[in-house]
Amino acid sequence: MAKSNIVMLSVGSLILGVLAVAAAQEKSASWQQGEKVYAARCAACHRQNGQGLPNVFPALAKNSFVTGDRQGVIQIILEGRRSSIGRMPAWKAILNDQEIAAVVTYIRQAWENQAEAVTPEQVAAQRR
Ligand code: HEC
Repeated sequence: MAKSNIVMLSVGSLILGVLAVAAAQEKSASWQQGEKVYAARCAACHRQNGQGLPNVFPALAKNSFVTGDRQGVIQIILEGRRSSIGRMPAWKAILNDQEIAAVVTYIRQAWENQAEAVTPEQVAAQRR
């Protein structure tokens, strides 16, 4: 009886371990894609460390706009924005919903930023 309890326990912890690894991999898959998109499309201006360039390209690290309302962030990536500071390019003709969701998730969770992930469906809902 004691022996079978131990077996049950080890099987149980094995299953938990596999689930934990699966959850971590799910996050890192989205991260890895977002990280690649960021390196290829965004880092030239906003820099790999998210610090941007003072008075030229806004920092995305520790930026409350980036970690705030998700719709505002999705909007600027899709449509771009122009101001006296400069021009943020529009990405809707270049990146698909999956890539935009990945890069928005990345900038919301990279460096010390902490905000919830964004899904391709949420990007699709704002694309026009
Ligand atoms: C050619 C340079 C350039 C590239 C490439 C670029 N950006 Fe920008 N980005 C800007 C500029 C300039 C602004 C400021 C625009 C403004 O003030 O209206 C900006 C603004 C932003 C903002 C708003 C920040 C705030 O505080 O309002 C976000 C978010 C952002 N960019 C994310 C990205 C992401 C993600 C990518 C890659 C998909 C990217 N940018 C690529 C130049 C760039």
